[in-house]
Amino acid sequence: MDYLQITGGKTLKGEVRISGAKNSALPILASALLCKNLLRISNLPDVADVKTLAKLLEHLGSEIEWVSPNELLIHSERIIHTKAIYDIVRKMRASILVLGPLLARFGKCEVSLPGGCAIGARPVDLHIKAMEKMGAEISIEGGYIVARAPKGLKGADVMFDKITVTGSENILMAAALAKGVTRIINAAKEPEVVQLCQILQSAGVEIQGVGSNELCVRGTQGELLEFKDISVIPDRIEAGTYLCAGAITNSAITIKNIIPTHLEAMISKLGEIGFKFENTQNSLKILPASKRYAFEIVTTEYPGFPTDMQAQFMALATQCQGSSSIEERLFENRFMHVSELQRLGAHITLRGNVAKVTGGEKLIGADVMATDLRASSALVLAGLVTEGNTKIHRIYHLDRGYEHLEEKFSNLGAQIKRLKEK
Ligand code: UD1
Repeated sequence: MDYLQITGGKTLKGEVRISGAKNSALPILASALLCKNLLRISNLPDVADVKTLAKLLEHLGSEIEWVSPNELLIHSERIIHTKAIYDIVRKMRASILVLGPLLARFGKCEVSLPGGCAIGARPVDLHIKAMEKMGAEISIEGGYIVARAPKGLKGADVMFDKITVTGSENILMAAALAKGVTRIINAAKEPEVVQLCQILQSAGVEIQGVGSNELCVRGTQGELLEFKDISVIPDRIEAGTYLCAGAITNSAITIKNIIPTHLEAMISKLGEIGFKFENTQNSLKILPASKRYAFEIVTTEYPGFPTDMQAQFMALATQCQGSSSIEERLFENRFMHVSELQRLGAHITLRGNVAKVTGGEKLIGADVMATDLRASSALVLAGLVTEGNTKIHRIYHLDRGYEHLEEKFSNLGAQIKRLKEK
């Protein structure tokens, strides 16, 4: 196993190119199951989660050719299995994204239940309820979601009790091949959901309400779609993480290949903290602040402040003057990074789903443990400002979602090394 060693205290400078969004790449790959032609997908991030889903699709029968680490050709006309096996699904919860397309296309499938994860229970009940509303019969057998719709899925009014990103994506893909019109009420409107809608639209699927909380999808009654080439949108969470790297080290760095409107919640929060920006059409430079003020965050659905940036802003709060408050509304247990940041000397108290961070104290390097993807990136950020060395263990979490992390940070002037555990 690898670990990262970071020597803190360096000022960063220069530019970093933001990779394609993992959370867009995953539904796009799953949507290839709806597609009859040979499909080219580019700007894929070279990260473990994308490789895991590609492996699952290959297991189902998709033919995949990697043109480069960031681009593939996929042909899913001849799918031979409709069972997404535990061995692959357990590695990545987002594997649940094959449920909608498989069920819509074949009228049956089995998908292993993903199980719990470090940031909370994370059920998939809303995905299941929505498929049932579309006429599926679903049971849980031997750890698998066993779904059947012998006469195909039918359009329906699907009302999500809670906004769910992958749930909305799953139903969108199912609705694209269903019979009739599906209305998705209380749908997610994250940019990744919007990109999936646009891809389906360019394949001829009629969708109304794109970018809103209500989507209306007219299905093709089982007819497979013809997709155009796809380029994955830039990763707004990776972009936010590098903005936080500039902010925590109080350095001027430029992030390139971004869609600035996707970053508004983070840019606005960094503005409140005291940072200014220079921007061009698809790049953004964060400038050092003369003073960094404490702040308040409440995580919500897009366009609100993203839960996937909560941990990174907590690391940043340790360097801001005064007491910051961070409230997590989406995942009850998404505070695994708190005890690791405390090991570095951060002053954080946790009550329920609210963390209070008293900033302005020195952090001292220590051994810490990565616990989930975003918690791990918060530890990298904290490591950039610790006195002495910080060693981050179990970095396979980081490799799930950050492309070439140590290379990108090294290019910005950070002292960071990937080493092998003894
Ligand atoms: C996606 C993102 C993840 C992000 C999250 C919230 C991907 C691959 N992952 O995860 O990075 O942190 O959105 O922005 O895109 N819920 C239920 N029942 C369900 C489904 C969800 O109760 O069937 C709850 C969850 O426990 C959570 C909330 O709904 O409290 C939102 O979760 P959801 O949007 O579904 O997260 P994911 O799609 O898994």
